[in-house]
Amino acid sequence: MDSELAVTAATATPTQQRTAPAAGPLKLEVEDVGIGYFSQRHGSFFEAVRSLTFNVPDDSLVALVGPTGCGKSTFLRSVCGLLGYQHGRLLVDGSAVTGPRADCSVVFQSPALMPWRTVERNVGYGLELRGTPKAEVRDRVGHMLDMVGLSKFAEHYPHQLSGGMQQRANLARALANDPVLLLMDEPFSALDPQTRDRLSDELLRIRELTKLTVLMVTHQVDEAVLLADQCVVLSRGPGSVVEGVMDIPLGRGRTVDETRHQSGYGPLVRQLRDMLRALEPAESASGGR
Ligand SMILES: Nc1ncnc2c1ncn2[C@@H]1O[C@H](COP(=O)(O)OP(=O)(O)OP(=O)(O)O)[C@@H](O)[C@H]1O
Ligand SMILES: [Mg+2]
Repeated sequence: MDSELAVTAATATPTQQRTAPAAGPLKLEVEDVGIGYFSQRHGSFFEAVRSLTFNVPDDSLVALVGPTGCGKSTFLRSVCGLLGYQHGRLLVDGSAVTGPRADCSVVFQSPALMPWRTVERNVGYGLELRGTPKAEVRDRVGHMLDMVGLSKFAEHYPHQLSGGMQQRANLARALANDPVLLLMDEPFSALDPQTRDRLSDELLRIRELTKLTVLMVTHQVDEAVLLADQCVVLSRGPGSVVEGVMDIPLGRGRTVDETRHQSGYGPLVRQLRDMLRALEPAESASGGR
């Protein structure tokens, strides 16, 4: 493990890292993006995100962290085209986001599986909508269920699954659409620590297998360091901006348990926690995260 690199990142300032150029092709380009909500009833505008600029390199996992209410979920909604943005450039795989995109899949905190469909038919739903031939749906769904370890539960209904299994099915559904970018909004936060570790390892393994690019929102500092190649830290809302970008050079193909034992892990967790503490309002800054 490259502990020398890890220490370098842990001691570098956020500003130094923010100015470092991104290497290689980019899966998501975000330049001066501003997003807000109009209320027709009140004739008002609420600025959730002011001027975000950062990139997600191809074949990377980037964690988006920041105080509650700073606009992380809002931003993910704009990336997949469910919510318009007011200014800036937002490009997925080189093309501007102008509306809902079939090439981005989203995994939310709660699995939101359709209770009347079996696991298999939930996972294949997006493919069915696209008119994919039945045999191809069956093959692809079978492959995805295999990947997340749910093959034996294909015929089960969501209520017959544990929370962790439901989130696995949700992940399989997102992957079945073969997205160029997987967006995850606190996907493991409702799970117990052991299940979270297991699913985190699965995500890391699937990523290595598929070379999928992932942008993941998380509140958990340790989760961000365990999983990500890079953490993008947003400032406190309203009108949040990118506060800093932190590289996590802990290596590819790692497992969460191995990572916890690396010498670079602790300093990175502390650095990220300190950055987030500094963003808390004065009255709650003494509380731990
Ligand atoms: N539909 C909406 N209409 C108006 N304002 C909204 C809407 N959705 C979110 N907001 C506001 O936008 C801001 C950002 O909300 P958002 O849910 O994106 O934050 P977040 O960073 O995901 O928070 P958390 O970490 O708690 O999930 C908040 O102030 C919220 O009240
Ligand atoms: Mg949110």
